[in-house]
Amino acid sequence: MTCAVTASTSRDEFERAKRSLAGGVDSPVRAGMPMGAPPPVIASARGSKVVDVEGREYVDYLCAYGPVLLGHGDPAIRDAIATAAERGTVLGVTHPEETRLAERIREHLPSMERLRFVSTGTEACMSVARVARSYARREKIVRFSGDYHGHADEMIFSAGASSNSAPAIDAGVTRATAANVIILPYNDVGAVERCLAESGGQIAALFVEPVCANMGLVLPAPGYLLALRDLTSRAGVLLVFDEIITGFRLALGGAQALYGVRPDLTCIGKTLGGGLPIAAYGGREDVMARLAPDGPVFQGGTFSGNPLCVAAAHAFLDSLEGDRGLHDRLDVLAKRLADGTRSAIASAGLEYPVVQLGSIVDFMFRRGAAHANFDQARDADRGAYARYYWKMLDAGVHLAPSTMEVMFLTAAHTERDVDATVAAIARSLQP
Ligand SMILES: Cc1ncc(COP(=O)(O)O)c(C=O)c1O
Repeated sequence: MTCAVTASTSRDEFERAKRSLAGGVDSPVRAGMPMGAPPPVIASARGSKVVDVEGREYVDYLCAYGPVLLGHGDPAIRDAIATAAERGTVLGVTHPEETRLAERIREHLPSMERLRFVSTGTEACMSVARVARSYARREKIVRFSGDYHGHADEMIFSAGASSNSAPAIDAGVTRATAANVIILPYNDVGAVERCLAESGGQIAALFVEPVCANMGLVLPAPGYLLALRDLTSRAGVLLVFDEIITGFRLALGGAQALYGVRPDLTCIGKTLGGGLPIAAYGGREDVMARLAPDGPVFQGGTFSGNPLCVAAAHAFLDSLEGDRGLHDRLDVLAKRLADGTRSAIASAGLEYPVVQLGSIVDFMFRRGAAHANFDQARDADRGAYARYYWKMLDAGVHLAPSTMEVMFLTAAHTERDVDATVAAIARSLQP
């Protein structure tokens, strides 16, 4: 692989970054604080691999926290971006390809009767909250601890994904904002039932990651999503599926297709742009009609529907639609990784459950049944994970520098990658 390897070390590069980038990063998790030192500084990525500034190659399971599904630098996506760039990189008006993309998405996610493109998942989630409030004329939202819906004020506290933020002015969150957010434990139908019985009349929307990949991987308990659908419908509360990670990754129709539950509103992003920043939110036509120009809710963006991102998204959907076996193959490969990890854990005399769904694999340094909520996720032994993280890097495997993240597989990962990873896990788990 050709890559921009520099003469300096990752350590030097990170020290240099700290002199101009706040904290040396553009996203706090990248500083690797829980690991005790910054992760390698990456110079390039191709297929299933990343290469650091010192020229060391790793099998990548971070995958940029989820967007990479076809593999790094997928040629079809690169070509689509280059071709689109010939026709202008930003237009600031509606263009036909943008509309065509909305039509394609609606075919795969029919619950998104009307949708709007934005650039990030954060924008999608905060915009959904605003439109939901306007529709319901209610001020509060409900969400679950350990789910992550981006870094808007109302979303950032008690959230997963290494966000570690408090509902306090110290973290820049006002009391008024915090007072309008109700946080409940994930996978606890009773808690939702009680909350909606007590305060349903004040709640505009309930946000959920239908499969949560931001406190490790937590699957919804059997019947949980259907129960949320039923309870919110009865309380007149809008059900929002945050499918920023699950959309297109778990299935073309996302988790809502996999579990057969139709939310009122949905957020998608990450994989959609094949590595470029595009996200969308959408749902019921009557709710989305609250958006300006039809309604009173303003939401806009200079880069929304950006033609390069739209072209990348078309190329991404072309690949998925042209390869209907992809999700099954990813599932088989991920099962190979999960089974190998189980054997490695058992050989090390440990008893950590491994969780896998589609192309997502995770285990926590925590005994007992697989964790089902944020409190249990926080029980995991972070020191043990940090030691494991550095051993895995030494063995050529690039993981997330946090226990709250998961391993993502892509179409570019091979059985060889997975088998080498399993061998590395087996070695790294030995005391
Ligand atoms: C489920 C979920 N929602 C929303 C977001 C925010 O997306 P972005 O980082 O693009 O703002 C993320 C990001 O990790 C996410 O995992």
